[in-house]
Amino acid sequence: MSYTYNDEVINEIREASDIVDIISDYIELKKTGLNYKGICPFHNEKTPSFVVSPNKQIFHCFGCGEGGDIITFLMKHRNLTFIEALKDLADRSNIILPEGNDDAGKKKYDEREKLFKLNREAALFYYNNLKSNKRALKYLKSRNIDFKIINKFGIGYANDSWDDLFKYLKEKGYEEELIYKVGLIVQRRDKSGYYNRFRNRIIFPIINIRGKVLGFGGRVIDDGQPKYLNTPDTPIFNKGYNLYGINIIKDNRRYDKAILVEGYMDVISLNKYGVDYAVASLGTAFTENQAKLLKRYAKEFYICYDSDEAGMRATDKALEVLYQQGIKAKVIILPKGKDPDDFIKERGKKAYQEAINKSLDLIDYKIYMYKKKFDINKPEGKIKFTKKITQFLKKMKGSIEFDVYINEISNNTGISVDTIKNEIYGYRDNNLNKSYKDKYSKPYFRNNIKDRIKPVEFSLEPGHLTAEKRLLNLLLQDKNIYNKVKEEFMYMDFLDEDNRKIAEIIYKKYEKSEVLNIEEIIDELDINTSEKLRNIINLVSNDDNKEKAIKDYVNRINYYKKKIRRDYLKKEINQIKDKTDKSKGEVEKLRVLMMEYVQLDKELKVNH
Ligand code: UTP
Ligand code: MN
Repeated sequence: MSYTYNDEVINEIREASDIVDIISDYIELKKTGLNYKGICPFHNEKTPSFVVSPNKQIFHCFGCGEGGDIITFLMKHRNLTFIEALKDLADRSNIILPEGNDDAGKKKYDEREKLFKLNREAALFYYNNLKSNKRALKYLKSRNIDFKIINKFGIGYANDSWDDLFKYLKEKGYEEELIYKVGLIVQRRDKSGYYNRFRNRIIFPIINIRGKVLGFGGRVIDDGQPKYLNTPDTPIFNKGYNLYGINIIKDNRRYDKAILVEGYMDVISLNKYGVDYAVASLGTAFTENQAKLLKRYAKEFYICYDSDEAGMRATDKALEVLYQQGIKAKVIILPKGKDPDDFIKERGKKAYQEAINKSLDLIDYKIYMYKKKFDINKPEGKIKFTKKITQFLKKMKGSIEFDVYINEISNNTGISVDTIKNEIYGYRDNNLNKSYKDKYSKPYFRNNIKDRIKPVEFSLEPGHLTAEKRLLNLLLQDKNIYNKVKEEFMYMDFLDEDNRKIAEIIYKKYEKSEVLNIEEIIDELDINTSEKLRNIINLVSNDDNKEKAIKDYVNRINYYKKKIRRDYLKKEINQIKDKTDKSKGEVEKLRVLMMEYVQLDKELKVNH
């Protein structure tokens, strides 16, 4: 017996998914007016007659007549059942489906629905409070927020009360446990009861694209601390997956512009002045999932963070996160010390529009940023500038923009194209040398290699890579595992460069602390490597016996290392063998190599 989903669930999933975004994963689509066009995957054709409508969220092929919604598409194209297609979509949108044929999944789903309802109830409660609170209204007025905006964003006010909302919700029949789960109340320290989380604060409901209230941000009216209090992560609210204001963008501007800003007030203030396509990343670093969400609702992207040092760093990071999603965002620069709210209030929409028009693209922003940091009129500053910018360019190697960027940097700084190129390729060489050194330092090679033997490049096999990843996954879990592993297997022993980088950070962090903070590790990695780390974290472990698993993985890695070494020896041996007149040294070397080779070969056969 299988569980059948009710229409509400199905609609929720359908609405959360974007047909253009998903079909683009399979077929190249081009925008033509309101719709998108591509080559039909369901029949043979050379000229595109397959049309996708973002507004109607359907596809239709004028060649073969196939058509339907995103679920039909996945079923047909990937040969999935209805349920499989639904699950696939739910995963993409981070929606939890009522699972399988047991009641537990259904219960979980129903609970989430209740939590949404609770939040809606609370939002209304706060909204009604605001209407009768002079002080709160006065504050909003001082910030230029009128009733139109209050209604549009559902802004409210939490009274200066320990329990009014709590009591109200209980009287309405909601269980304490749920009110707590959704983050509206906080447990007393002595566990004797609960009290309102938000007190004497202006309340900004955070609403998703389906119009559901996920959580709240609450701002003090005076200069109390913290300035903003937010709903913690709950079963229905995960900061990294949501953006403040996305509900408004969705209604206004499908497939147009989006500006990423820092705060609630920035979104609201811009909106008041008619810039109604801003979203805020909720006070945390902009994440990959937020980028994926945003991507669905715009075509042109801007970032407009504060212009201080922290804001510049955050901008740089957001640019990279967006770039990884194929988005080339531009950066809107505001005068120092001004956020979008301040700026538009002081200077008006026209001035903001001008700032948008003058926004900088990726490379211009990098130049701007590093020029601010280093004085390129001084030799030392110029060197640092070049180093930084080429580090960035290195990542772009092979891209269409690469040469354009080099020219632009050269024009902007007076540093010659050659100097920049030398720096880039020189850097690569440095890196190669480093990885050679690492190879020498690996215990296996340390024990056996004689320094007259040159290292070779090797490629790693899938089994080896999997073992490395699984070992990292175990290491991430707790320090006891690390303590067992570290003597025998050092971070240099990971052969894959990215794995080694991750391991190095893990090992170093464990030396300093008992538990790992994943975010801190991610902070030290570039985007690609942190993506790898995420995959490692998400590996599902079926290692019941961890000690045994560690041994297995270490053995497996060492096995592959020996294989690499053996293959290398074979090559060397053949090279010397092929020589017609071998020197005395070479004959001796051949003997040593052969000995090692035979020994290794034997070990490998025994082990396998
Ligand atoms: P800002 O301090 O820049 O606030 O924080 P703001 O948006 O300009 O707000 P106003 O103008 O002073 O009212 C930016 C964002 O960081 C988060 C909030 O999401 C805020 O909008 N933040 C800030 C917090 O979560 N907690 C804080 O204590 C401060
Ligand atoms: Mn502000």
